[in-house]
Amino acid sequence: MPVKVQLDRIGMAFATPGGTFRAVAPLDLAIETGRFVSLVGPSGCGKSTLFNVIAGLLQPTEGRVLIDDEDATGTIGRVGYMLQKDLLLPWRTVLDNVILGMEIQGKPLKQARERALPLLRKYGLAGFEHLYPNSLSGGMRQRAALLRTLLFDTDVILLDEPFGALDAQTKSQMQEWLMQLWSDFRKTVVFVTHDVDEAIYLSDEIHVMGTRPGRILETIQIPIARPRPRAVTLSPDFTAIKERCLQLLTADRPALEAA
Ligand SMILES: Nc1ncnc2c1ncn2[C@@H]1O[C@H](COP(=O)(O)OP(=O)(O)OP(=O)(O)O)[C@@H](O)[C@H]1O
Ligand SMILES: [Mg+2]
Repeated sequence: MPVKVQLDRIGMAFATPGGTFRAVAPLDLAIETGRFVSLVGPSGCGKSTLFNVIAGLLQPTEGRVLIDDEDATGTIGRVGYMLQKDLLLPWRTVLDNVILGMEIQGKPLKQARERALPLLRKYGLAGFEHLYPNSLSGGMRQRAALLRTLLFDTDVILLDEPFGALDAQTKSQMQEWLMQLWSDFRKTVVFVTHDVDEAIYLSDEIHVMGTRPGRILETIQIPIARPRPRAVTLSPDFTAIKERCLQLLTADRPALEAA
């Protein structure tokens, strides 16, 4: 598969009152077209920072972002991005929240609504179209925020811990739902989570990250056939991958605690 997003020696240092803080060491990362790729790592390892850089919201201290082999460093609008906080606008209905990306991209309101309505109905938000976000459950809000990100017409979407705040039951429903969307929409997905099981269950490939400075410790392929029944999480292949991830994350921890 061709490479969709390439980070070429991307590094990030922040100026802080205490001096320069190195958040992300220069790193390389290649994400192939159509894949579901996760970044897993401890708090502060630079996952959201990398997303901000890929989305063009943050200028990296060094390196380049390539999208479809073109330099996209500091360019906004090339990827759909769902921030760590869902940021639905409380004064807009679910439908009008979902079309926000299309509106920003210049699509006429009527056309955007016509495109979004059947999708809201197909993807579990039937009956909620004209409600305001504050009357929705956490899972429903995340559905709306995710659909909005998908309807931003880009080949790549970045999802920063979309299910982090949900209870276990809702989370597993949302994972199934996301798999359905991914196979329908065929986008390249980069997904951030703290949950190793979630990363393995959803992904083709996981980049396990470490801290101080943020870096990629290891890239792990998930050669488990799709569709993946829930029971796959109990299989020896799954367990072996999980053990490797946890080993890497645990080995990175003493450095953090000593610091
Ligand atoms: N604007 C900034 N100025 C200074 N330091 C920053 C800035 N943004 C991020 N950092 C620091 O960079 C490091 C990486 O932050 P980032 O938010 O990318 O981590 P993360 O992996 O997303 O963590 P979490 O899992 O908690 O969301 C952290 O130590 C953070 O405090
Ligand atoms: Mg983060």
